[in-house]
Amino acid sequence: MAEITLHITRGSEKEGKHEETYQVPFVEGMSLLDAIFWIREHKDPTLAVRYSCRSANACKECMAVVDGKAGYLCSIRAEENSEQKIEPLAARPWVKDLTTAIE
Ligand code: FES
Repeated sequence: MAEITLHITRGSEKEGKHEETYQVPFVEGMSLLDAIFWIREHKDPTLAVRYSCRSANACKECMAVVDGKAGYLCSIRAEENSEQKIEPLAARPWVKDLTTAIE
């Protein structure tokens, strides 16, 4: 079965930062936000991520850093058998996992 591997920053200012790695089944056309939803449903419901529109790229709440570059998790497509690192935005106050405060 095709998968993607995601290295995701977890924690908070209070708990400290660490990275967790997840293998997610690949589905053609899935976004990184879809992959995070799969992790929340099947592995860890506490994984925090901010989102609203989920695909319209309109709310701009799902912004994170993917492989060192800022982007919207709902609009970045996962690639079969890829490996990606996802971190919270460094420019905003960190809340938890992939969520940052919107100023
Ligand atoms: S969830 Fe709205 S832009 Fe990504």
